[in-house]
Amino acid sequence: MSETPTVLVLNGPNLNMLGTREPEIYGRETLAEIEATCRGQAEALALAVDFRQSNEEADLVTWIQEARGTAAGLIINAGAYTHTSIAILDALQMCEMPVIEVHLSNIFRREAFRRTSYISQAAHGVICGFGGHGYVLAIDAMADLLGTRGQG
Ligand code: DQA
Repeated sequence: MSETPTVLVLNGPNLNMLGTREPEIYGRETLAEIEATCRGQAEALALAVDFRQSNEEADLVTWIQEARGTAAGLIINAGAYTHTSIAILDALQMCEMPVIEVHLSNIFRREAFRRTSYISQAAHGVICGFGGHGYVLAIDAMADLLGTRGQG
């Protein structure tokens, strides 16, 4: 039996505060609850999940670099770094695997500065505006990109 492909799910700054952080925008689900749901969905689609969060841009860049050897696909909610980080874009552009960008909120109906994403250029697709469910949609899309659907 071949090894289960791993999807690296990266979360950027302030996402550790989900549940209590501006719930009217981001919902009441905690990051731990989102992680648990992702694991269940991944298992049903014959995928494994490596789920991480950091408030540091450098951690995210390093994890993306390391993913080349360990992950089959990458899902990223870079938080505010979405709108500022060429370093994360550069790392994603060389990671050689499908990338899906996720945002809990609909970044296009908020402040103008949130409408620019540096990292979308490296993404196969973008999911935003569905709260924590966006991560589940991203895992589902990743299963199609990696061809694991039906193997779970
Ligand atoms: C976010 C949107 C960003 O603009 C914001 O800085 C975040 C969260 C989202 O998931 O909706 O931290 O990425």
